[in-house]
Amino acid sequence: MAALSSPLIAPSVLSADFSRMADEVAAVEKAGADWLHLDVMDGHFVPNLSMGTQLVSALRPHSRLPFDVHLMVAPVDSYIAAFAKAGADHIHIHVEAGPHTHRSLQHVRDHGVKAGLAICPATPPEAVEEVLDLVDMILVMTVNPGFGGQKFLTSQLRKIRTLREMADATGRDIRIGVDGGITPETATLATQAGADVLIAGTSVYGQEDYARAINALRTGGASRPA
Ligand code: DX5
Ligand code: ZN
Repeated sequence: MAALSSPLIAPSVLSADFSRMADEVAAVEKAGADWLHLDVMDGHFVPNLSMGTQLVSALRPHSRLPFDVHLMVAPVDSYIAAFAKAGADHIHIHVEAGPHTHRSLQHVRDHGVKAGLAICPATPPEAVEEVLDLVDMILVMTVNPGFGGQKFLTSQLRKIRTLREMADATGRDIRIGVDGGITPETATLATQAGADVLIAGTSVYGQEDYARAINALRTGGASRPA
């Protein structure tokens, strides 16, 4: 079943003005964001560096939004506790990060944090199958992770559909997020395929009016399945 109601919108602060980060976070909350997406890159799993626990904990008092932390880090286990302590409400690890995805998801849940599993464009949907019982959300990368401002890969729509079927078959409420190249147009494609959380950097922080940008994504993503 594809998502029928409005998707949740999670602006990614990777595209925000880092010199005014607390204001940027408050601004999207005021503009109607549902979650705040924080991208952590290690210069190893992905070819870029971004932010760490210090920024997450510094921002925590400035927002009531759930913090949706995307760890592009390998190996990841030794960082999970620190991000939970810094204020993450959800932690996404990558199925490709290894070495033991099952153990990593258990660690996330042991800290009372919702567990997300991110999946890169080249990885088939079956890669998440054996750990679905430990997952609260699947994060489908619709670009190769590491940079904002890339083009949405329509090749991933088929995977979103497959994962929506797999998630629904569990009988549990597993969210499916999409991350990378989300615009009002690609939001429509992604939600028609079954996504119900839209991560967006450029399409929110790259725009003049954040409220209008968030609304455009929500409206684009609220389209019913064809
Ligand atoms: C990419 C990050 C994304 C990024 C999305 O590796 O995971 O969250 O901020 O940026 P846009 O929306 O500009 O593609
Ligand atoms: Zn991300």
